Amino acid sequence: MNPTRIATYSELPDREPAYAVVENVDLVIIRYDDRISAFYGRCHNRGVLLADGYIYGENLICGVHGWDYRYDTGVSEYNNDEQLAKFTSWIEDDGVWVDADEIRAWTVEHPQPYHRDEYQGMYQDVHGAPEEPYVGYIKELAGYGLTRSGEHGPVAAMGVPRQELPSWDDLQFVVGQHATLPQLDEVPVDTVLIIGPRAKKPLRLEIPIFVSDTSFGALSEEAKTALAKGRKEERKINGVEIHDGYHIV
Ligand code: FES
Repeated sequence: MNPTRIATYSELPDREPAYAVVENVDLVIIRYDDRISAFYGRCHNRGVLLADGYIYGENLICGVHGWDYRYDTGVSEYNNDEQLAKFTSWIEDDGVWVDADEIRAWTVEHPQPYHRDEYQGMYQDVHGAPEEPYVGYIKELAGYGLTRSGEHGPVAAMGVPRQELPSWDDLQFVVGQHATLPQLDEVPVDTVLIIGPRAKKPLRLEIPIFVSDTSFGALSEEAKTALAKGRKEERKINGVEIHDGYHIV
């Protein structure tokens, strides 16, 4: 038993959540009439401090998304499976006391991940949620800027998720061999493409081939060399401008 004073009883406003930390565990204290509750002080939803919440009826309400916990038992009326750990507390010598040993024993099963000394450490959302995938990244930038990723920020290969690309199954070829017979191999073919033929300044491409961005590691050395040679040739023919792997016409 390790009695630890966490508040002055006479200074606690009635039915107003108050904060304390013991053994690296955030607590929420609620005085109601002449009684006291001391609960684990973080919401089971996203870990918000419940001392920043408010009392409504007989419930302690989380200030962010409104989860409820009875202020006498810690059990949610809405969903009884949601329950705050309730720690032994008592009033003595105008103090509110808890047993730090009991709280430390609780942390064995419930280790606390919060780093209160860090930037916004008290308010970290350590669990995240799939519908808010960038919260962790924003937090990283807010806390450390680019110091942990380099001055250019996170670097990854260029690319488009494969499932978002059209596949051959999406294409339909309307064959025209009977209407326009294919040429024999040695017959010269006109490859010119004019984009915007009625525009003031039509774009004329001798060979209408785009070589798009080529990502690191996605292509073999031979393929990259071939593309580079092709681009060089194309540039000569079409007079296009090339920027570092991006092809701008
Ligand atoms: S964090 Fe408490 S309700 Fe969402």
